[in-house]
Amino acid sequence: MEDDQGGEGDKVKVVVTAGPTREFIDPVRFLSNPSTGKMGFAVAAEAARRGFDVVLVAGPVSLKTPVGVNRIDVVSAREMLKAVKGAVAGSDPCVFVSTAAVADFRPGKCAAQKLKKGSMDGVLRLVRNPDILKTVGLARKKAREKFPILVGFAAETGDAVAEAVRKCRAKHLDMVVANDVTEKGAGFGTNTNKVVFVFPDGSSRRLPLMSKRRVAKKILDEATRLTTAAR
Ligand code: PMT
Repeated sequence: MEDDQGGEGDKVKVVVTAGPTREFIDPVRFLSNPSTGKMGFAVAAEAARRGFDVVLVAGPVSLKTPVGVNRIDVVSAREMLKAVKGAVAGSDPCVFVSTAAVADFRPGKCAAQKLKKGSMDGVLRLVRNPDILKTVGLARKKAREKFPILVGFAAETGDAVAEAVRKCRAKHLDMVVANDVTEKGAGFGTNTNKVVFVFPDGSSRRLPLMSKRRVAKKILDEATRLTTAAR
């Protein structure tokens, strides 16, 4: 079922996270990663084109908001978690596509003033950030709900499929889009991507190199199928 609302009844809400998060050390320094938001913005744009009710939770990126998309800008992982919780709450049927490259760690504290080089000893104490997708996955499992349908991503440099299966099960997801970021044309900053769809039962579907727009279409086809099956 392509290019429609995914079945009968209420309008499907699609929540997408995109881009990196920034975890500040002091007012002028932060930890982050090379995500540009291209993958997530492509998913949000395609979802809006299909007539879904779209919320895009975006980390700091320089992309224009796609037409028909409600955008919430955030900076840190904790801000992203709060925005995602608000967006998915009480929305059935709902699909959450987590393309963001969320920082797994943040500095234990952010200094109020710019740190002087002389006062730094070269050791940065880090604490774990919340896992946004896992938080939503655990809440859905606990509530024994079918929604939101949960689509994760896995940016890998080794055995992408095995790692994606592990993440799919550990975070209680319906599907993971694995991309090997060492492959040419795949991963961070590119206009193309090369992905494998991975499911909790260990099955997978490998797609050739294609534009991120086309990957977004394939993801939404799959999410629509999962939504229809869950209704
Ligand atoms: O933005 P682009 O430049 O277009 O690049 C696209 C991309 C490479 C960022 C994208 O295709 C991608 O792979 N996104 C996931 C990046 C990642 O680092 O995933 P992960 O393996 O750390 O996390 C697994 C999943 O859990 C992801 O869906 C992630 O959004 C989510 N997660 C991770 C950590 C965390 N604290 N909270 C999360 O929700």
